[in-house]
Amino acid sequence: MSQNLERAFKPAMLGKLELRNRLIKAGTFEGKTPNGVPGEQLLNFHMGMAEGGIGMTTLAYCATESDGRLNDQMMFMHEGIRPQLTAIIQKLQATGARVSGQMAHCGNFSKNKHLTRLKRPMGPSRQINMLGLPSGMPFAGAMTHQQIDEMVQTFYDAGVFMKSVGFDAIELHMGHGYGLSQFISPRTNRRTDEYGGSLVNRMRLPLRALEAVRKAVGDDFPIIAKISLMDGVRDGLQQDESVKSAGMLDAAGIDGVITSGGTSSMNVMKMFRGPSIVHGMIEQEKNIFMKTGLKILGPKMFRNYPYHELYFMEGAQQVRDLLKNAKLIYIGGCSTMASFEKVMSAGVDFVQLGRPLLADPAYANHARSALDAGKSYASGCTHCNRCVALIDAPGGIRCPELHG
Ligand SMILES: Cc1cc2nc3c(=O)[nH]c(=O)nc-3n(C[C@H](O)[C@H](O)[C@H](O)COP(=O)(O)O)c2cc1C
Repeated sequence: MSQNLERAFKPAMLGKLELRNRLIKAGTFEGKTPNGVPGEQLLNFHMGMAEGGIGMTTLAYCATESDGRLNDQMMFMHEGIRPQLTAIIQKLQATGARVSGQMAHCGNFSKNKHLTRLKRPMGPSRQINMLGLPSGMPFAGAMTHQQIDEMVQTFYDAGVFMKSVGFDAIELHMGHGYGLSQFISPRTNRRTDEYGGSLVNRMRLPLRALEAVRKAVGDDFPIIAKISLMDGVRDGLQQDESVKSAGMLDAAGIDGVITSGGTSSMNVMKMFRGPSIVHGMIEQEKNIFMKTGLKILGPKMFRNYPYHELYFMEGAQQVRDLLKNAKLIYIGGCSTMASFEKVMSAGVDFVQLGRPLLADPAYANHARSALDAGKSYASGCTHCNRCVALIDAPGGIRCPELHG
């Protein structure tokens, strides 16, 4: 085994936390928390990866508050789920895996009809809420200063809660078109106050959220951030600015930066590459009007990008060159031994894996054994992207290609 590949499978430090290897399960909203309550389904999903040798797994969509959810089937951080979440985390940790939670707020990208505190989804600026159209929530409002302060408070409260239920790390979602990235993107943030305009102003809320979470969890607890290198749309966030934003997070004491790209709201295929997710969405859609709409408009809504391995490598390297203290966590199409070798030799600290682990939850152990035997190993993931369309399906996500 080459030294670089060997490095991937050796223990490594993320801040003050030791992981048994450099492989991290990426946050992939599981769709396995019926009515927002974590239980057996969520545990079994992550147990496959924890027992399968991953260094750290990530429970996705840990909303900071009820109104921070895209829909009411997602978890939000509150006392009502403390016993279930604590038990799940402890069982996963018993395998030797670490457990992170992806802390997020959806901002104005919501189809949650059961908003409790807000009257409508809120973001940096007024806009049409495409996701909310079918649920009769077509408009999103612009947050007042008070609402911004309240949102920051939800990040603080969620941080206190997540540390207390036993998470080993927190991943702050600052990408993909969710709440914090709506402020970073010049396309969605058209404010003229101190939260809009220059990059410094557009980063003000994400940095305040980081500060709040840091205050909640203390200096020794790892906080990492997932950013989008680019939105992939006209007038959207471009890579030169996102690279600078990574530097700002580093200076503010983040422990790691995950360099993703694209947005769920405007250009999701930039995140995934490969066959459009629209085919799977049409397959899953039960509402006849939505199904017809998707058939007609879908091909125009979702762009085509051919899949190739390591499609965010160039941007990740730019971020790596700039980070002084934070670890660089690569994500995006790392699914062959050759790619692992490349990212490790490029000085990446950790690798997050999404689709390859849906195909083979025990990928880490299988790859390790194959390498020990001098063989290569592939997860079997074909990047067909059919798993993505299962987010809202009964039972949630799985690899339909390999596991039916
Ligand atoms: C089914 C599915 C659900 C996802 N849900 C999330 C999510 O909740 N949060 C997030 O940041 N990224 C999400 N992603 C994106 C992944 O974290 C990752 O960025 C993307 O799959 C590219 O990595 P990969 O090539 O290793 O799959 C999801 C991906 C998939 C396949």
